Amino acid sequence: MASDSVSAYENHARKFLNTRDHSTIGIHVIEQWAHSLPTNSDVLEIACGGGIPVTRTLALAGLKLWAVDSSPTLVSEFKLRFPDIPVECTHALESNYFGRKFSAVISIGLLFLLCEDDQVRLIHRVYQLLMPGGRFLFTAPVEIGIWTDINTGHQCRSLGRERYESILQEAQLRILDTYVDEGRNNYYDVERN
Ligand SMILES: C[S@@+](CC[C@H](N)C(=O)[O-])C[C@H]1O[C@@H](n2cnc3c(N)ncnc32)[C@H](O)[C@@H]1O
Repeated sequence: MASDSVSAYENHARKFLNTRDHSTIGIHVIEQWAHSLPTNSDVLEIACGGGIPVTRTLALAGLKLWAVDSSPTLVSEFKLRFPDIPVECTHALESNYFGRKFSAVISIGLLFLLCEDDQVRLIHRVYQLLMPGGRFLFTAPVEIGIWTDINTGHQCRSLGRERYESILQEAQLRILDTYVDEGRNNYYDVERN
């Protein structure tokens, strides 16, 4: 049965936390990216989940953080864990993102949960949220494909590197590099022109 990513994650929020809280997958890539940003950079995390391990890794790197996620259960857990980080519970395409711009945006495990049109919209929204020269790190496969999300049963869609590159280019963003973590997740390290 088709589901939207918002209800899929809210319905499976506790199960997701039970797994993700104990996972360190990707933290080396995130640590490396975080340390490549100027100290004290203002960073927005889109789809922060419960904040472990990604937000925790960013906070330990000394970054100043803001966060958004659509799941009320995950956001309330996030607030208990990171009471000093401003967080909003909303759909990624509906947030006003604290009415400000950021030096960097990170979004791990979100883009491919969205339909193609929303993926394009979100990439263009990220451009608007970034200051010139700002950075964007997101995960999505290099290959085109459709698969079932192991956490929720939700149908995921990768547009593939060629299409991501052309959407990014239209949005005046360019790929600096890509990385693969120990879970074989692909990361796009992107810069705003
Ligand atoms: C795979 S989890 C990744 C969470 C976190 N980034 C991590 O790596 O642990 C996907 C996250 O996206 C959130 N999400 C799903 N659809 C969303 C949407 N449309 N807007 C904002 N967040 C969304 C879910 O609530 C969940 O926290």
